[in-house]
Amino acid sequence: MTRCDRHLIIKTRASQPFQRSAEAPALPATPFKFIFYFVNYFRGWYVAIVMLEALHATCGIMLPYAIGEIIRSVTRSTGDSKLIFNAVSQPLLLFAALSVGEVVFGRSSGLLQTLRHPIHRQHIVRSLYAYLQQHSHRYLSSSFAGALAHRISETSLGVTQTMQMLISEFMPVIIVYIVSTTLLYQAYPPLAAFVGAWAVLFISISFWLATRSRLYARKAAAARSDTTGMIVDAVTNLTSSKLFARLGFERGYLNEQLRRELKEVRKSNWYSERIRWFQFISAAILKIGTLYYALLLWSQGKIAVADFVVATSLSLLIISEARNLSKRFLEFFEHIGNVSNGVGTIIQPHEIIDRGTAIAPTITQGQIEFQHVKFAYSDEKTVFENLSVTIQPGERVGLVGFSGSGKSTFVNLILRLFEPQAGHILIDGIDIQEMTQDALHAQTSLIPQDPSLFHRTLLENIRYGRLEATEAELIEAAQKAHAHDFIAPMQQGYHSLVGERGVKLSGGQRQRIAIARVILKNAPILILDEATSSLDSITEKAIQETLDLAMHEKTVIVVAHRLSTIAHLDRILVFDHGRIIEDGTHAKLLTQSGAYHRLWIMQAGGFLPEEDSPSSIVATA
Ligand SMILES: Nc1ncnc2c1ncn2[C@@H]1O[C@H](COP(=O)(O)OP(=O)(O)OP(=O)(O)O)[C@@H](O)[C@H]1O
Ligand SMILES: [Mg+2]
Repeated sequence: MTRCDRHLIIKTRASQPFQRSAEAPALPATPFKFIFYFVNYFRGWYVAIVMLEALHATCGIMLPYAIGEIIRSVTRSTGDSKLIFNAVSQPLLLFAALSVGEVVFGRSSGLLQTLRHPIHRQHIVRSLYAYLQQHSHRYLSSSFAGALAHRISETSLGVTQTMQMLISEFMPVIIVYIVSTTLLYQAYPPLAAFVGAWAVLFISISFWLATRSRLYARKAAAARSDTTGMIVDAVTNLTSSKLFARLGFERGYLNEQLRRELKEVRKSNWYSERIRWFQFISAAILKIGTLYYALLLWSQGKIAVADFVVATSLSLLIISEARNLSKRFLEFFEHIGNVSNGVGTIIQPHEIIDRGTAIAPTITQGQIEFQHVKFAYSDEKTVFENLSVTIQPGERVGLVGFSGSGKSTFVNLILRLFEPQAGHILIDGIDIQEMTQDALHAQTSLIPQDPSLFHRTLLENIRYGRLEATEAELIEAAQKAHAHDFIAPMQQGYHSLVGERGVKLSGGQRQRIAIARVILKNAPILILDEATSSLDSITEKAIQETLDLAMHEKTVIVVAHRLSTIAHLDRILVFDHGRIIEDGTHAKLLTQSGAYHRLWIMQAGGFLPEEDSPSSIVATA
């Protein structure tokens, strides 16, 4: 678990009761319930696997008994070799049947597990992914994407490994104990009591030690997760490290983390080593004890040679299982640790969910209204105190203001990436909290400041705007966005891959792809957040015409630092420290000789000046 995940968990836990989106599977938030949830889903298969494993273990443990029977028959027979074979034929048959059974049941269970485990694992991946999808923008931007993906696969693997361990490792041990004590009981009850008591004591102490080891195991797992998170972060920023000539520094940084990990892992390993000492010593005591005790009983004539053989081979079997157990216990808790790590991070309450009564209205007008909106990203950072503004249907509005004045936040609230703490945001008179998020997002388009693309082909990236679009429509959109000009000459054209997050394209090319897919989407509300900021003036001018065309009959919000790109819009809102300080057309605002006028003069039709002091537009106007 990374530091930032921990922060997130504390925050969400403290803030509200557990709410989960109806779209997401109802996954339990504790590791054992989580495992049970998925096992229950495949219960038929699990019952079959458990039965086969039980039969497999029983056959294995009955083998010494069959050997005992063979010896018994041999010692009873007269010595004639022909008669011996007659006498031992039945126990031999039993021995053969048990051997075959052991193979058949064991491998059948193996077959079922081979068939089922990948499907089981994928089912968990699917469910966790569906759950993760419903998390808020805040959750996603506070977590490492790589670490979340890593956790999904670790968790799913953890569940199947836990189950495999329970069924194939622990259950057979328990069966071995039960059957062997029963067999010993038949031979000589006190001997059974001796081994049985040892087994109960051994399991109890082993379990107690292992539960105590959980703490160490969890700490070691968390340290390993931290390392992974750190490496993912470092790899993401590798180019930055290179450009700062800090590769050596980064190696040192990793070493620091590895040292911390080593400390935790060593603690955990030392503890498990101590458990192993206990288990090996007690197993050795049992071995010697049983041998001595059985020998004593035989010398006193209380048990036969056959019983003596059965007792010693059973105790050897138990010892080997005990060694297995000692190795497996810690692995088991490591798997559980992985599951609880993933469950703890991913199965968090969803911050923004559709209400049960949410509707999916069609936005026909595109009127946007902020009513007394109060919004803060966190307790100490209020962006809007009491913001009220109405954007009329079909109005094209420009938002200007210094960096950090709240323009993107305004847009984020309309898109419901965050929810206001007070007040309402209405579209066509309907509170957006009463709409399904899908309905809202299907009818609003955003071209963000820095669009990120999927590592898929250009075709797929553009088609994202409307999945059923034909190739002709798609190319038309690309042409309008002036993207076709740079796509066509590419060797694979529209089938070229764009690299992770679109890194193989220039910033301006990425923006043009983002514009093309929004043109294809053709939603009634269009939001551009610095959408043309990465374009050169010539391309921008060309695209501006397309955008003006795309804005036709839509409600449009354009955030821009370059005032010339918004001067021609119907209305301009000037933001300052989360307030709208001026509102009107370009011409009107110029005549007011206020903040906008001052900005316009400073820019002389170009860019906003950099805010080099924390002073606001108003203060310095
Ligand atoms: N995800 C976030 N979590 C916490 N604070 C945020 C977050 N996003 C923005 N802020 C803060 O909210 C304030 C408003 O930011 P916002 O992004 O709305 O500004 P902006 O006007 O769009 O600026 P720019 O012109 O630089 O894009 C800033 O002080 C910013 O630091
Ligand atoms: Mg912004």
